[in-house]
Amino acid sequence: MKIGIYPGTFDPITHGHTDIITRSLRVFDKVIVAVAPNPAKHPLFNLSERLEMVKLVMKDQGQGGQVEVVSFDGLLVDYVQRSGSHAIIRGLRAISDFEHEFQMALINRKLAKNVETVFLMPSEEYSYLSSTIIKDIANHGGSLTAFLHPEVARRLQERIRSLKR
Ligand code: COA
Repeated sequence: MKIGIYPGTFDPITHGHTDIITRSLRVFDKVIVAVAPNPAKHPLFNLSERLEMVKLVMKDQGQGGQVEVVSFDGLLVDYVQRSGSHAIIRGLRAISDFEHEFQMALINRKLAKNVETVFLMPSEEYSYLSSTIIKDIANHGGSLTAFLHPEVARRLQERIRSLKR
């Protein structure tokens, strides 16, 4: 069974991430969505909140069976090996992603030479998305319908409201 691991901060999970997970399931038998604490990014949602939202979206998509949602701490390559995964999955949205992704893939390969990274192209309608942009739209009262699962959108709007209080 081929297992792919899709790591990220998921602050919060967007339709762009879900699109990559769906595409990954055409290549891998199972996908592990691995949520990183990433304190350096100062996430708006804590780790358990992000984990819960990813699980909720996957369950709603009916992808619960082939998708496992976990959190991991420490080096990604260590978790890849511990989990018995065959490759890291990353989405390549635009040329601007390339440099960062290239660096991460090569560093990960240097750390663990048997760990491969596979890049998937998101659907063009999501190729401009990022969690930061979504948070900015939410912060300015814009509609999130096209980008987020309704429950994720509700939680984001609620979090932003509570921060403004
Ligand atoms: N659709 C929508 N948004 C997408 C996307 C897609 N298909 N693909 C990426 N993004 C967005 C993310 O939402 C995120 O947005 P943000 O920066 O506004 O939050 C951004 O693009 C990329 O961030 P993310 O996917 O969280 O990855 P990252 O570049 O922050 O890296 C890890 C996260 C977890 C992969 C990385 O930090 C890691 O491996 N950490 C473990 C420690 C380690 O091993 N370090 C050494 C190796 S680098």
